[in-house]
Amino acid sequence: MCASGDSLANLCGQSRERGAPWAPAPRGRALSGATRQHARMKVLFVCLGNICRSPTAEGVVRAIAAREFPGLMLDVDSAGTADYHVGEPPDRRAIAAARRRGYDLSGLRARQVTVADFSSFDYVLAMDRANLGELERVNARGRAHVGLFMSFTPGLEDEVPDPYYGGDADFDRVLDLCEAGARALLGSLVGRLGRK
Ligand code: 4NP
Repeated sequence: MCASGDSLANLCGQSRERGAPWAPAPRGRALSGATRQHARMKVLFVCLGNICRSPTAEGVVRAIAAREFPGLMLDVDSAGTADYHVGEPPDRRAIAAARRRGYDLSGLRARQVTVADFSSFDYVLAMDRANLGELERVNARGRAHVGLFMSFTPGLEDEVPDPYYGGDADFDRVLDLCEAGARALLGSLVGRLGRK
């Protein structure tokens, strides 16, 4: 019903007005045949505002991939389920915490998830269950595997907690989780591509 490129806000707004139950999108799907044919992988990280957690994941994964997984052809991006901060740079506390560990987030700008993202990315990875729920509510039938970023690191927390109303320690915790999640995700991608 919704044209490709419609925002989540529009789609979710319609859903809430009608009070219509939306079927959850399939989760934990294996990579599609189309995905397996392409060595380049595309990963989108999703949080609420796209100014704290998902841009941190984007910057950390991009840097660790370049440094530790140079053979992996990877495109990373991030987006928010909400449109509150579209066009803004990451939160200054996120930029500062990342900078202390050598990651530069300053050039990133927030955007909102679109329906097209579910087709153009191989993985759409939410930072917490609430945002995963928002993604599932849209039920866009794309090729992407939609799940939790932290599902790649069993044994750690399964969500990256929202640091927006927290302090420096909360932003450092986001970085700890993103670094662990990045290495687990990248190792998994390399393993999958190697098994093709
Ligand atoms: P994020 O954090 O989802 O990790 O970017 C937040 C950013 C902004 C808001 C909440 C969480 N906010 O309410 O504006």
